[in-house]
Amino acid sequence: MGWGVRTLEKISHGAFVCEYAGEVISFEEARRRQLAQRSEENNYIIAVREHAGTGSVTETFVDPAQVGNVGRFLNHSCMPNLVMVPVRVHSVIPRLALFAGRDIEAQEELTFDYSGGYNGLQKKVCRCGSNNCTQFLPLDLSILNQRQWWWWWKEWQSSVNWRPLSS
Ligand SMILES: C[S@@+](CC[C@H](N)C(=O)[O-])C[C@H]1O[C@@H](n2cnc3c(N)ncnc32)[C@H](O)[C@@H]1O
Ligand SMILES: [Zn+2]
Repeated sequence: MGWGVRTLEKISHGAFVCEYAGEVISFEEARRRQLAQRSEENNYIIAVREHAGTGSVTETFVDPAQVGNVGRFLNHSCMPNLVMVPVRVHSVIPRLALFAGRDIEAQEELTFDYSGGYNGLQKKVCRCGSNNCTQFLPLDLSILNQRQWWWWWKEWQSSVNWRPLSS
């Protein structure tokens, strides 16, 4: 599971905590990097999908691997204490802001739900320890197309402790 982030002081419900900063990359680049990423790499390219009332969908992909901030050390939890909200500041490209989803005590680990509530197929075992843990880290497979996904899945079978959701 690697590194994580703990708060040294109390944080009130609704307070801004930090940004999930990183390189804003295209869909194609996100796909390329996701395919190149190895199972033991502690990195998470996040895909944020915003649905407009008209049916249009805006997708933003943020990779904190090379350019980022403390946000890149935040682990996933199935019962998180932070909430991610896309915020626009003088730009159409959203910044991924993390706010306290409840009052947080000093020394608690700060976490957010990588899936944003969307449960796709998954691969890495989740070690968040919450009662409602779904057992796997969310993975946005829409980044990969069918053929690439199959190749990638076979690679992962040999390199990571995984099993499909149905078993
Ligand atoms: C954004 S990084 C978080 C910081 C990371 N733990 C580190 O040491 O750099 C995302 C990676 O951390 C690990 N991770 C985060 N949350 C996890 C969890 N609940 N269970 C297992 N591994 C987790 C996974 O390897 C994931 O790809
Ligand atoms: Zn979990």
